[in-house]
Amino acid sequence: METKQRENWGSRLGFLMAAAGSAVGLGNIWRFPYMTGENGGGAFIIIYLFFVLVVGLSVMVAEFAVGRRTQQSAVGAYKSVSNKWTFAGVLGVLSGFFIMGFYPVVGGWAVAYIFKSFTGLLAAPDAIGDVFGGFITSPTQPIIWFLIFLAMNTLIVAKGIAGGIEKAGKVLMPTLFVLLILIAMRSMTLPGAGAGLEFLFKPDFSKVTGATFLAALGQAFFSLSLGMGCMITYGSYLNKSENLHSNALMVTLMDTGVALLAGLAIFPALFAFGMEPAAGPGLVFVVVPQIFAAMGGAGTVFSAIFFVALTVAALTSSVSLMEVVVAYLIDSRGMERKPAVYLTSAIMVVTGLLSSLSLGVMSGVTFLGVGAFDFFDILTDKIFLAIGGMILAIFCGWVLKKEDLEDELTNGGTIKFGLFNVWYALIKYVIPVAVAFVAVSGIMAITQQSLMIFGIGIIVVLALFSKKL
Ligand code: TRP
Repeated sequence: METKQRENWGSRLGFLMAAAGSAVGLGNIWRFPYMTGENGGGAFIIIYLFFVLVVGLSVMVAEFAVGRRTQQSAVGAYKSVSNKWTFAGVLGVLSGFFIMGFYPVVGGWAVAYIFKSFTGLLAAPDAIGDVFGGFITSPTQPIIWFLIFLAMNTLIVAKGIAGGIEKAGKVLMPTLFVLLILIAMRSMTLPGAGAGLEFLFKPDFSKVTGATFLAALGQAFFSLSLGMGCMITYGSYLNKSENLHSNALMVTLMDTGVALLAGLAIFPALFAFGMEPAAGPGLVFVVVPQIFAAMGGAGTVFSAIFFVALTVAALTSSVSLMEVVVAYLIDSRGMERKPAVYLTSAIMVVTGLLSSLSLGVMSGVTFLGVGAFDFFDILTDKIFLAIGGMILAIFCGWVLKKEDLEDELTNGGTIKFGLFNVWYALIKYVIPVAVAFVAVSGIMAITQQSLMIFGIGIIVVLALFSKKL
């Protein structure tokens, strides 16, 4: 049945960098800090780290294993077992679409800030917050940058797996890492930075609710690129001789390291400048330029480099999101790569436009109480990814054969996976129950309940019509 030789990663490092490139992105540098800020700091971080290590890492191992075992992208992987499960893959493709409804918009902001670094943004530090607000609500400016970002993304995906994605990741991830270390060092040595460290490391559990747990779980899935088949697809391109669990561990550690570094870069400076930790999505675009503004002339160059690196981190992630949709069209709908990429991209132009405008001129247009940007964001991050991860865990634990998983994770018995039984118990029993519990208590505590119920409705409808998908 296999006629075409499946594309493969060019090298071991290539896969690791691409998977880490998918994981490390706006989720770490833009989203993690503002989620931490909105959810009270240290307590959120502790809950987040717990979910990353216990749930996220296990689900990543599972996604890699399913992808490589079946040699299929998300939908094909589920479908190859039974078309009762096709909906789980389709849910992932839908999540990819929805995340791409807002992700390239924020990517566009990052591109814009490369140029803004040179055009007077840093000269008036007091105005940096207002500049951001004015920029993202404008009906034209952010849209131009969004289209530029999406165009770069489309080009990389159109060039295929080894050529585009791999090269971009290899060069620019290390740059980002080094830059973040430099910014964090500067931030932590500003006068008054201590309050920021306290915010990060002195947990206050008094404000923790079910919604905090759901936010932390959703952030863990989002940041690690889990719950929508992205890592299934990447795993399907992975060589049979690679060690899946050690790759998963490395990706998880890198991703978490970058998120924590971003926190160390932002919060000390934020407190030093006397700003609000709960300032929301503008955090990185407001605090980081302020740090650079305080550096004088050299700050301009650093700021530009930072936003170049952020753009690239965002690109290596959005490329992986688009790849899930494209791989579905290729593997399950029989399309050629190029038309699949252009079709996907054209639809994403529309969703991105709606998202960007929903922050400004279209802010009055809401559905279930939220605008387009929040609709795509909340629906994926607060419900689809976690449920997608839960379904994958159930699929692994209760549908696939334990021997097959063990065979896949030990490369047919040639390498060791000492924690296999622990992993298997987590996947089979602990994760399904834990995710269900967090989802229910989170939905009860959250303000956008009707949106959540709508999301669950979509999942139920997909499941009912799974055989037709
Ligand atoms: N993890 C990426 C980030 O943090 C975003 C991302 C890429 C993603 N692929 C994904 C999120 C798949 C969920 C699922 O920016």
